[in-house]
Amino acid sequence: MNFYDAVKNRRSVRKYRGTPVPSEKVDRIWEAVRWAPSACNLQPWRFLLVKSAEMRERTRRVLLQDWVITAPLIVVALGNRETAWRRDGVSIHAVDVAIAMEHLVLAATVEGLGSCWICTFNRNALQDTLDIGPEWEAVAVTPLGYADDPSPRTGRKPLADLVREI
Ligand SMILES: Cc1cc2nc3c(=O)[nH]c(=O)nc-3n(C[C@H](O)[C@H](O)[C@H](O)COP(=O)(O)O)c2cc1C
Repeated sequence: MNFYDAVKNRRSVRKYRGTPVPSEKVDRIWEAVRWAPSACNLQPWRFLLVKSAEMRERTRRVLLQDWVITAPLIVVALGNRETAWRRDGVSIHAVDVAIAMEHLVLAATVEGLGSCWICTFNRNALQDTLDIGPEWEAVAVTPLGYADDPSPRTGRKPLADLVREI
């Protein structure tokens, strides 16, 4: 699958089959994440791969999105607010993590796996549950697994609304 196909085929999957994901697929996805760019190449990120039934259930409870538990894997993307590059004194770790996370979801698409960006969670509750230190910020979460959901393609604004030549 080429890059443009991956971009167009990716969609938010909110129902998964329980089928385990082969570790080779996960390894290739991590390799795509590893090569994401970051400001000054500081790579201020870590990823938690939530696999056990107990930890997935604890994660589901704080995410308040019950369908997440249908996925065999859940990824929690963390950014380090102390080691990331700063612009005007403000850490841009969330930008770096978002880029790496998009590498992850596009690589998952190429591997035939579904994903879904999730940001609407109680960050403090999630960080307590997963024992995440204060220097780290849980930026986004995604389930990972085989889709069990036709997930119709969503629309987008027309290109003319997005780009302005000046
Ligand atoms: C930053 C961000 C946060 C999102 N948070 C959630 C979320 O908390 N729950 C959810 O079900 N979908 C979430 N989404 C998925 C969006 O709703 C989805 O990407 C959008 O509707 C477009 O649909 P598509 O991903 O299928 O193309 C989020 C997406 C992004 C990029």
